[in-house]
Amino acid sequence: MRLLMEGYAWLPGLRRSTGSDVVRTRVMGQPALGLCGPEAAQFFYDEKHVQRHGAIPGPVLSTLFGHGAVHTLDGDAHRQRKSLFLSLVTRESTASLVSCVAAAWEDTVVGWPEGREVVLFDEASRALTAGVRRWAGIPVETHEVAALAADLVAMVDGFATAGPRHWRARKARKRREAWLAALVRQVRDNELGTPQGAALDVVARHRDADGELLDPHTAAVELLNVIRPTVAVCWFVAYAGHALHRWPQHREPLRAGGDFAVAFAHELRRFYPFAPFLGGRATHDLTWQGEHVPEGSLVLLDLYGQNHDSRLWTDPYRFDPQRFVDREIGAWDLVPQGAGDPHTGHRCPGEPFTVALLAELSTRLAGLDHDVPDQDLTISLSRIPARPRSGFRLIPATARQ
Ligand code: HEM
Repeated sequence: MRLLMEGYAWLPGLRRSTGSDVVRTRVMGQPALGLCGPEAAQFFYDEKHVQRHGAIPGPVLSTLFGHGAVHTLDGDAHRQRKSLFLSLVTRESTASLVSCVAAAWEDTVVGWPEGREVVLFDEASRALTAGVRRWAGIPVETHEVAALAADLVAMVDGFATAGPRHWRARKARKRREAWLAALVRQVRDNELGTPQGAALDVVARHRDADGELLDPHTAAVELLNVIRPTVAVCWFVAYAGHALHRWPQHREPLRAGGDFAVAFAHELRRFYPFAPFLGGRATHDLTWQGEHVPEGSLVLLDLYGQNHDSRLWTDPYRFDPQRFVDREIGAWDLVPQGAGDPHTGHRCPGEPFTVALLAELSTRLAGLDHDVPDQDLTISLSRIPARPRSGFRLIPATARQ
């Protein structure tokens, strides 16, 4: 199937070949309409047009999101579950997460063995895991962090492929859901002390639209939906290493601090490939730009394509953080984590975390004296999720021989 072969270039390629912003295609044998652009995003995010229930394929739920996840809900059930995530992402909690991850990053860098290369992707995944487990109040011993990081990365890495990566993802999810469901039971039975207001405590005590506590499995799924994507920021940290290597002129302004780090984080999220597109189902027979959309058919919103649309971004294939300095970002234009209002729609609630963590870790990376040995830095657009093939290897200066 062309999606598997072409990855991120699939929907943009279809649009180019048809010369239209709306393309008809098929996904897993089902008819689908591919859309792109701010107006299309508003159409897609309108619950009267497109719903999420039944849109996400089983293999993606069994790896990336978990069955029963917030991603699959609509209407009041969605809004009530979403409030759980939004309550966890405040200005204070963002600062506290960043400080936990910065401390873990510091420990990581200090622990790098002399004279040895390290893989930035792996190191960042462990530092993020160490930081977020502390922030979330989840008891994980230091020697268990690497295994947890590997499982959380596996869930993301294996969602869009068949074969070993996919099976690794399924196993990782099963293992971690069982573990976290047991922790949720312990919190509820007062057998485990976890700080009040920490993510583990908040998820364990959250009540859904029906007034009931989440069953322990669903609670585990949603706890993973906080810690897994936080650790997935390691994809962008590896991209930050890549960008600073390719365009070293950004080191100096990053080191100087200020708003540039946030602009750099936004450009990482816009420029580099991660989430390819979103899917939903037409709630009833619809028409979009003259195209008939039959009830129940798939509607896809091309995120990667929109982030590289020259009508929105001048010279879109140029990495230029400066474009975000003093730019007001509209709710519908920059869409690496979805569009619209996170309170009313499905837009990612974790953008403040992502941007703050990336600003912090990119700045630290810019200040790190290191060499970059020869390696394969290609980023294949046919691999979902993409990443620099080598994971970005570096030799820290303190470890140089
Ligand atoms: C949803 C991307 C980080 C939690 C989403 C969506 C995307 C996305 C594309 C779907 C939006 C939609 O369906 O309309 C990313 C990327 C991240 C990231 C690329 C950085 C690596 C985070 C973080 C959190 C998080 C740090 C932690 C709170 C969620 C949740 C949803 C979501 C709970 C489901 C929202 C809903 O269905 O209402 N994310 N995200 N994400 N993200 Fe993120």
